[in-house]
Amino acid sequence: MSRLKVAVVGAGIYGINHIRAYKHNERAELTSVCELDPKIRERIGAEYGVRTYALVEDMLKNEELDAVSIATPDGFHAAPAILAIMSGKNVLIEKPLATTLADARSIISAAVKYGVRVAVDYHKRWDPAAIQIRNALREPASGRPVRGYMNMDDIIDVPSKWFTWSGNSSPVHFLGTHCYDQIRWFMGCEVTEVFAVGTKQLLKSMGIDTYDTVQAFLLMENGCWWTVETGWIYPSGFSKNNDGRTQILCENALFRSDSQNRGVEIYDGVKCHTPNSYFMQESKAGPFGFGIEPINDFVRCLLSGEPFIADASDGLEAEKIAEAVHKSLETGAKVKIERES
Ligand SMILES: NC(=O)c1ccc[n+]([C@@H]2O[C@H](COP(=O)([O-])OP(=O)(O)OC[C@H]3O[C@@H](n4cnc5c(N)ncnc54)[C@H](O)[C@@H]3O)[C@@H](O)[C@H]2O)c1
Repeated sequence: MSRLKVAVVGAGIYGINHIRAYKHNERAELTSVCELDPKIRERIGAEYGVRTYALVEDMLKNEELDAVSIATPDGFHAAPAILAIMSGKNVLIEKPLATTLADARSIISAAVKYGVRVAVDYHKRWDPAAIQIRNALREPASGRPVRGYMNMDDIIDVPSKWFTWSGNSSPVHFLGTHCYDQIRWFMGCEVTEVFAVGTKQLLKSMGIDTYDTVQAFLLMENGCWWTVETGWIYPSGFSKNNDGRTQILCENALFRSDSQNRGVEIYDGVKCHTPNSYFMQESKAGPFGFGIEPINDFVRCLLSGEPFIADASDGLEAEKIAEAVHKSLETGAKVKIERES
């Protein structure tokens, strides 16, 4: 097999990136897209010359596919993913793998039963700045990591205007899982204990039953404590849709990374914009950047048999942390994460 036949489920804000990546990947043939919204379906069919479906079942019955991307809303990954898995397709699931441990485990059990591979799109693992820090952390000269800080925040438009499903997710699932995954990947070990505090006020007053912000404290197996702040209420006028910072203190080194200002500032007379030049760019050859690379890597790893950079077990670990954070928010107590054999 030198070219994969692929499809995408969910063609909203992020699914479009899967569609564009596959469309420009010489080793993939995008045959079809499944999308509930008829207007989006019509537009995608016309713009990308693909067959479109309203139901995953119909697409899986009618199309010969090797792999399927799942880019449905956070809490709605499991159903289409499991249908694709049950018909023998490899799947790439947008982060988070799921918003419950039960869903995450069902996806993994189905993949084991039907002998297919599952990757999770934790695209921060492809960010050049994150790769540089991870490599430097592995240098013995850096010494033992002692303390870490990470924040990821979105402007309030994201939960209030972009999505209809924000009350079904949370800053912990939508943003926190990105952080938890990146921290596990930086540290090369697991989280053992979690404590979290948060507020539910502003979004709730707007009819969206989810957290405004959450501060979580994670203890890692290597003894390093992390503070992770995630939130969904940055002001609309912020210079970018999202903000993010990382700081890691080791015994002999300090690492800092700013994902908000990546060095480009654009002033348009109203405000300063700070686009992330490394995330997604267009060239003659198509889209590129660390938002696109995980999708191309999925194709590459399926064709070569190489392990995925982030797979379903990584998705499960991030979900375990997310669920522990939510449990701590609800109980006000520390929550231990037991290791499974
Ligand atoms: N928006 C972002 O910045 C971003 C970034 C990275 C990852 N993601 C992840 O990508 C996923 C999708 O997010 P989004 O921003 O594209 O949301 P979205 O609401 O813009 O798009 C989701 C799309 O899925 C469709 N859909 C829902 N259920 C379906 C089903 N069963 N079959 C077919 N289509 C279905 C909806 O009609 C909608 O068009 C989420 O898990 C999100 O966390 C989003």
